[in-house]
Amino acid sequence: MFLLKKMSLCVIAVAIATAGVAQKKTIDQKVDSVLKLMTLDEKIGQMNQYNGDWDATGPITKDGDKQNQIKKGMLGSMLNVTGVAHTKTLQEIAMQSRLKIPLLFGQDVIHGYRTIFPLPLAEAASWDLPLIEKSARIAAVEASAAGVHWTFAPMVDIARDPRWGRVMEGAGEDTYLGSLIAAARVKGFQGKGLGNTDAVMACVKHFAAYGAAVGGRDYNSVDMSLRQLNEVYLPPYKAAVEAGAATVMNSFNDVNGIPATANHYLLRTLLKGQWNFKGFVVSDWGSVGEMINHGYAKDNYDAAMLAANAGCDMDMESRSYIQHLAKLVKEGKVKMSVIDDAVKRILHKKFEMGLFDDPYKFCNTTREQQQWNNVENITASREMAKHSIVLLKNDAVNGAPLLPLSKHSKTIALVGPLVKAIRENLGFWSYSWPDDTARIVTLWQGMQNKISNDSKLLYAKGCNINDQNKDGFEEAVNIAKQADVVVLSVGEAPDMTGEAKSRSNLHLPGVQEALIQAIAATGKPVILLISAGRPLVFNDAADHVSSIMYTWWLGTQAGNAIADVLFGDYNPSARLPVSFPRSEGQIPVYYNHYSTGRPAKNDSDVNYVSAYIDELNSPKYYFGYGLSYTQFQYGAITLSKTNLKGNETLQASVEVTNTGNADGEETVQLYIRDIIGSVVRPVKELKGFKKVWLQKGAHQTITFNITVNDLKFYNDALQYNWEPGAFQVMIGRNAGDVQTVNINWSR
Ligand code: GLC
Repeated sequence: MFLLKKMSLCVIAVAIATAGVAQKKTIDQKVDSVLKLMTLDEKIGQMNQYNGDWDATGPITKDGDKQNQIKKGMLGSMLNVTGVAHTKTLQEIAMQSRLKIPLLFGQDVIHGYRTIFPLPLAEAASWDLPLIEKSARIAAVEASAAGVHWTFAPMVDIARDPRWGRVMEGAGEDTYLGSLIAAARVKGFQGKGLGNTDAVMACVKHFAAYGAAVGGRDYNSVDMSLRQLNEVYLPPYKAAVEAGAATVMNSFNDVNGIPATANHYLLRTLLKGQWNFKGFVVSDWGSVGEMINHGYAKDNYDAAMLAANAGCDMDMESRSYIQHLAKLVKEGKVKMSVIDDAVKRILHKKFEMGLFDDPYKFCNTTREQQQWNNVENITASREMAKHSIVLLKNDAVNGAPLLPLSKHSKTIALVGPLVKAIRENLGFWSYSWPDDTARIVTLWQGMQNKISNDSKLLYAKGCNINDQNKDGFEEAVNIAKQADVVVLSVGEAPDMTGEAKSRSNLHLPGVQEALIQAIAATGKPVILLISAGRPLVFNDAADHVSSIMYTWWLGTQAGNAIADVLFGDYNPSARLPVSFPRSEGQIPVYYNHYSTGRPAKNDSDVNYVSAYIDELNSPKYYFGYGLSYTQFQYGAITLSKTNLKGNETLQASVEVTNTGNADGEETVQLYIRDIIGSVVRPVKELKGFKKVWLQKGAHQTITFNITVNDLKFYNDALQYNWEPGAFQVMIGRNAGDVQTVNINWSR
């Protein structure tokens, strides 16, 4: 009897479970059930995205009443609408539409929302993946509290050309570092997963290879071998997709002659095919319609057909889809299956975000208020900023390194156009709030917060950022003469780097270089702080000052973070994620170049070798370069083996000792060179790095495990594999300062 009872109980349990499963529809089933109810126009409405009526991040089109179009189901998403009040208002209108399909609200939350963090390139200089992820996480918490569902980030475009203004928005020149940072940012934005009210959909952009624009000129063409595209530029997008990125944004540029917006190879063959991407693709602003300018589409009708058929699911702002897709379907130029696939991808994300269950899920004013002045977020932005500052030079003055400064320094002169700059500290892709003046910590304020009562701060602006006026020089020189040390804060204007901000001349703008010379001529020790969103060219300044810190644009806590480093409360640990050219003529200059048939034997070799007769070969500062207030000594590399076979693992170790007078963090870098390949291989490639914090006098052995996966590359047939032979393993402090050992790896 007992057995019978037990069996019947099991049967009942299975029945309930099955029934439960039957009742609990999968998201796919829910999507299908909505799709079945939709008219063609309503489907196309989901593929249409407009900018809001408040802010614009591109050329705007004034047209009819957007709210009425929402009510008619002609809009699936809006961008640049933030704040619970605005998003709720528009969501309420969407709920008046026939099928009550909720809107998605997208926003460029690139490096913070209410609390602004350092520029993405500056964060990349930290090489600190947990911190970078945390920065994105905080941005998501603040933005989602303000009604934002979706950020158009991370931008993961590899950039080897600092003339391109958007180099500020990514992670620099390296594929390995860029891929790790791409994944970290996606995880940060999406947190514990879509559906959580503090998670926003990530949007990996700009697919693809936008950073390889010819001449570093924004929106310009990109043309390269499929091998280089797959080897150098595509991996960060793939890493972001593998990290679960909900959406992808195609780029403006043409890739090998076909605009990315309608590039079948990129969107269908690679992204939705080989990479099995299940999210949706949104065009960049107007890029569907811009295919007319490209000379790839005859008109918007043609552009809509090309883009939809190639796999672009949502049209941002060009109106090509909403105006022409219905006709294209009726004329058989675009199959209904193409529309259905796009709409299902979009609806799937809306279900995952929980918006069908509760369209007002992100409209919580209490949460919005709680996140509006979150002290922990502000503290975190200061932490990120400290870790992003790169110490480029720190010469001795009177027998000791000039930095860190003593908090009891008698008189410090603060000179330059950025000392009291406020909003500039936020850099490009940031938001202005009415209380910015109170919230943003300027350099001037940061220094005042730090120095002791017996110190005196003097100030002179000296000059403006970008004009020819030298009237302020005399005052600046005079206060420099009264000081023990001069902190000179110079740089670009924040809108000199960013979208549509390519520069052919990378020098400090205006008369800032002359100001540096005038201050240096006083003979006083000078600490140069350079704020910019890209590598600048400042050779003369670099040769005439004692110390240089690259302070990028560090966000809301800029002044405090800079002061933390200047006075040694934080020992700078950042390393450059991008090579710094000696001149624009050197560009593109990057560390992982090929050897060529005539490699220069040294920096000044010009004897029938690949070199410039008027410039040194090396960059001004190498990829991975950065100094500390202490010194790290590297022991010899030890290897577990020098001849390896097949799937063995090689251990390469080095002992690192802090031989200086301050605790500090070193970023130990591993590079590998494949000496001979079926295609030529770079002279070195970053394949690992480890950050190690060492107390003064302490040492630690750092070990890298290397397998054949670290040796793989795309051959001429686009096969991704490794080839047996001789390799070099290099470990060091930057791409220009490594120790090298030779190994052999056979099958
Ligand atoms: C811009 C940018 C893109 C941004 C979009 C929406 O033109 O290219 O990165 O996400 O439009 O603002």
